[in-house]
Amino acid sequence: MIGSNAFRGKHILLGITGSIAAYKAADLVRRLKEHGAEVRVMMSHGATQFITPLTMQTVSGHPVSLNFFDADEEAAMGHIKLARWADWIVIAPATADCLAKLTHGHADDLISTVCLASEAPLILAPAMNNKMWSHPATQQNYQLLKQRGVEFFGPESGDQACGEQGEGRLMAVDAIVSLLLTKLQPGPLSGTQLLITAGPTYEPIDPVRFIANRSSGKMGYALAQAAVEAGANVTLISGPVALGTPDGVNRVDVETAQQMYDAVMQYLTQTIIFIGCAAVADYRPAHQAQAKLKKSTNNDLTLQLQLNPDIINTVANSDNRPELVVGFAAETDDLQQYAQQKLQQKRLDLIAANRVGDRLAFGQENNALEIFWEGGHKSLTEAPKLEIARELIKVITERYHAKNSI
Ligand code: C5P
Repeated sequence: MIGSNAFRGKHILLGITGSIAAYKAADLVRRLKEHGAEVRVMMSHGATQFITPLTMQTVSGHPVSLNFFDADEEAAMGHIKLARWADWIVIAPATADCLAKLTHGHADDLISTVCLASEAPLILAPAMNNKMWSHPATQQNYQLLKQRGVEFFGPESGDQACGEQGEGRLMAVDAIVSLLLTKLQPGPLSGTQLLITAGPTYEPIDPVRFIANRSSGKMGYALAQAAVEAGANVTLISGPVALGTPDGVNRVDVETAQQMYDAVMQYLTQTIIFIGCAAVADYRPAHQAQAKLKKSTNNDLTLQLQLNPDIINTVANSDNRPELVVGFAAETDDLQQYAQQKLQQKRLDLIAANRVGDRLAFGQENNALEIFWEGGHKSLTEAPKLEIARELIKVITERYHAKNSI
């Protein structure tokens, strides 16, 4: 991906705040410039403790902006000029303090002031200790900023510089650059909010046991990736799975069907397209034992099950109904008949049906789908799940645009 010139003419204003990951910012600038971007850098005082302004000046080819109390700096490129110059403002790494400042509209240093004064799209790539990231204060700031349209790249999970493990690492420089590249060439779903459910749900019987199913989440995760590639803003509500989050996806982890339902309802008002790919448990144990159930040597055990809410049915019939509601149907027999029944009963716009029980579907790398909508049908023959997901996203995009052009 060297020298694509894709960013030619783009003004990218890079803010660097005080995290150890600041040392990666030099590489980021180099990569952005390789693609033709013009990059100017502003640094917080904290950032200068981790990487020198001279380094950033050398890689960007411009003097670095450090504060707005310096008459010389203001004369060269003042804070308002910088705010107007930027086509995008990217803050990488963005610290917890940076998020807090932006949430509350502070204007007590150069970066926060420029962000407040600029109408350019703002992208944050957070980097911090995992406890700082998961702290309710940071999480609330994160949610609020997202609601205001700020885009987040990462953070990622893994080993941290502080020796801990967890979520809070700066997204890899390559991934930041690829995501910026996908924003440039607007895809067919650019700017569209997608909500996807994926994976199984766990329905607790007691503190150690639960009812689950064989869903791996692979299909839902592939769809999330394909939707990001098509330019969508994707929130993925995920049951327990062993999969990494695709770059650029906002992932919300849940365990039970009820938690998945609650999370979906929280995001529904802003959703344009909903895809219910999760294998949601239809029933949960009516009573969850507080202590581990003991085995009785001479009696069978009867579990009473209670119906879970049907998430997609509620979504499709809600006052906040997204413009397109897409369901999945996993069937062992009479695929077409059951899929079409579900399409109508749940008031879906589209249903993607797959046969389960044979060698495809749950847990496998490949899939094949039969897609039905009112008056139409398309078969996707066996292929890796990501390919199937890209094809399905194409069909979804066509249906969405067809519906909007009526
Ligand atoms: O009725 P059935 O479970 O076969 O329907 C499958 C579709 O319904 C899938 O899209 C699945 O995500 C969704 N579903 C749901 N909530 C449930 C059960 C299924 O959203 N409780």
